[in-house]
Amino acid sequence: MIERPRVRGAGPERVPVPPERIDREAIELSLLLEGVYRQYGFDFREYASASLKRRVWRRVHAEGLTTIAGLIERVLHDPEVMERLLLDLSINVTSMFRDPSFYVAFRRRVAPMLHTYPFTRIWVAGCSTGEEVYSLAILLTEEGLYDRTRIYATDINEVVLERARAGVFPLDKMREYTDNYIRAGGRRSFSEYYLARYEGALFERTLTENVVWAPHNLVQDSAFNTFNVILCRNVMIYFDRSLQNRVHHLFLDSLERLGVLALGHKETIHFTDVQDHYEELDAQERLYRRVR
Ligand SMILES: C[S@@+](CC[C@H](N)C(=O)[O-])C[C@H]1O[C@@H](n2cnc3c(N)ncnc32)[C@H](O)[C@@H]1O
Repeated sequence: MIERPRVRGAGPERVPVPPERIDREAIELSLLLEGVYRQYGFDFREYASASLKRRVWRRVHAEGLTTIAGLIERVLHDPEVMERLLLDLSINVTSMFRDPSFYVAFRRRVAPMLHTYPFTRIWVAGCSTGEEVYSLAILLTEEGLYDRTRIYATDINEVVLERARAGVFPLDKMREYTDNYIRAGGRRSFSEYYLARYEGALFERTLTENVVWAPHNLVQDSAFNTFNVILCRNVMIYFDRSLQNRVHHLFLDSLERLGVLALGHKETIHFTDVQDHYEELDAQERLYRRVR
């Protein structure tokens, strides 16, 4: 007879969880992910489990259900439920000039390198609704680099890519974004880049003239080009370690020698087996240069 813990976690505030519920949750979760993968082709099986569980439960309750098993049934029979689950699982939170110090470091350490190339290709992997791409396009414009750059902006989720293409962001965010822009070293007035309309702030079309938006799944799809810069921020934090490692191999295959991998302060290459291929350009903002 196997002894099972009676409570999940520790501490007096924790609610005792019946042992059979603990096992069932894990089984149901893995069945859900397996079903999602086999029916719709999205592979979330190696995403970090704590955040995944939270998000699945949120969808269970939002659909008026009480179990993950109930959600399996709905997801497998109704593609619209899958679409809503995908939005939950893919976590699309983003903002313009998010973590402004990243852009300061990019201007300082990466832009001068890009000036030495006649043309550059940049991949923004996991671009969500595009705020990061518009921010980068603004930075490159101000650095006199945009005209000789092509940005490939990809995401697993086609719904967010559609929003990114439209280039309309909530007006009530403009104050926060203006503040971020200034802290990111912006050189103009932020309002020069958009037109305020009733439906939102419509960003300059020129900012996306050199952008290719495309679906790409970092877990399942292979390399599709080689790049001078790859930006992938706030995406791999949701992956478990072995998946992060695999995605780092994909980036290595996709990065030119002396190209830059820009991860932002939440991610690192330290525990991966590609780390010897890189030297650090900026420890705080996790900018790495491929040296071998
Ligand atoms: C939190 S957002 C980050 C957006 C932006 N990079 C930023 O830092 O603000 C994470 C994005 O990664 C995308 N994503 C998650 N799993 C992915 C995968 N396997 N392949 C490609 N994109 C993925 C999600 O759809 C989401 O838009």
